[in-house]
Amino acid sequence: MPTTRTQVAIVGAGPSGLLLGALLARAGIANVILEQRSGDYVLSRIRAGVLEHVTVELLEQVGCAQRLHAEGLPHAGFELAFDELRLRIALQELTGHRVVVYGQTEVTRDLMGHRAAAGLDTVYEATDVRPHDLESARPWLSYRHGGTEHRLDCDFIAGCDGFHGVCRTAIPAGVLKVFEKAYPFGWLGLLADTEPVAEELIYGHTEAGFHLCSMRSRTRSRYYLQCRLDERVEDWSDQRFWDTLRGRLPAEAAARLHTGPSLEKSIAPLRSFVAEPMRHGRLFLAGDAAHIVPPTGAKGLNLAATDVGLLAQALAEHYGGSDAGIAHYSQRALARVWKGERFSWWMTTLMHQFEGEGRFERRVRRAEFEYLCGSRAAQTALAENYVGLPL
Ligand code: FAD
Ligand code: PHB
Repeated sequence: MPTTRTQVAIVGAGPSGLLLGALLARAGIANVILEQRSGDYVLSRIRAGVLEHVTVELLEQVGCAQRLHAEGLPHAGFELAFDELRLRIALQELTGHRVVVYGQTEVTRDLMGHRAAAGLDTVYEATDVRPHDLESARPWLSYRHGGTEHRLDCDFIAGCDGFHGVCRTAIPAGVLKVFEKAYPFGWLGLLADTEPVAEELIYGHTEAGFHLCSMRSRTRSRYYLQCRLDERVEDWSDQRFWDTLRGRLPAEAAARLHTGPSLEKSIAPLRSFVAEPMRHGRLFLAGDAAHIVPPTGAKGLNLAATDVGLLAQALAEHYGGSDAGIAHYSQRALARVWKGERFSWWMTTLMHQFEGEGRFERRVRRAEFEYLCGSRAAQTALAENYVGLPL
């Protein structure tokens, strides 16, 4: 069987695997990425749009932020609409930080280009990837590529293979603790080459459900609608989507809505999930492989980026002679992850409509929003979580 060797074998070429590879290469640590899909497939997934300043700094560190700075849209605030109430969260004024709207697709494209230019190895369409001997000092991966069975020997394995990956399942069930919450609704997303309805993002709550107005550029919009879990994308014509969104928007935003043919439409279920610990022997988990948040707080990609920031630092310390970083990786990463989980759950609970909920809960949700409107302290708490807690 053809065998190669590297220092760190990374499973998954999503944002966490690619960023980890770039951070390790910068520290002089050899790495190879195995990705089950093609590069084009990875780039076709439309996902996150909001980057915290900590994520931007990590991309700057690896020299991958030129296009982000040229084309990304810095946002100093966003709007919350709750029935007839409107509230602007002044991120910059409250925290001193902004976020940048720059699509996950573009982050991935930049990191892929950077990796190719540096001549680092990525094996796309590597199937049947399996981790072995995690508890030994010589872990390895087996995989199939081009019809042949391969072996990749390494010092460490980084499981950056997302929620449906294989790495988490390689941790013995008796070791892994899972915390999970599924929400009784999903998000129907639509991407279109139309001018965004507003300069800043709008997160909205109405009797009919949640909506989000986001964007990818000044000419490309991304909108989401809360939908039932049993809905099918095929049943949502563009016209139905636009009419439903217009019906949920505050009146003066509805009057400004530009519609057009969709470039993409998809439904995503909402879930909170954490697997502990994030390390087993010489296997480390990072990003969606270890945790999922509902997208309402815009935290998923950002938590993935900070995980790999911590992991790259721990591995660099190991090759420098200290294993303290490795020993503390899981604990340090989880401390930040759980704060992201709490915030995402809170934003989701505040802004969505829960079918079958009693009148009392509805009034409490409204009272919470009114409290937020009247309290600078509450707005600051929201803002500091949204722009990202310090690493
Ligand atoms: P992934 O992006 O899932 O990448 C994992 C990679 O591993 C994939 O390329 C996959 O093909 C590969 N892989 C899987 N299994 C294997 C295997 N067995 N062998 C080899 N390779 C494998 N986050 C934010 O921060 N802000 C937002 O605004 C935001 N909005 C979102 C909106 C939506 C609709 C959704 C669905 C998500 C959103 N997120 C957001 C979350 C964000 O997209 C994810 O958290 C992010 O993609 C995680 O990156 P990752 O690299 O850990 O995992
Ligand atoms: C997006 O633009 O896709 C987006 C923005 C903010 C979120 C979630 C998704 O909270």
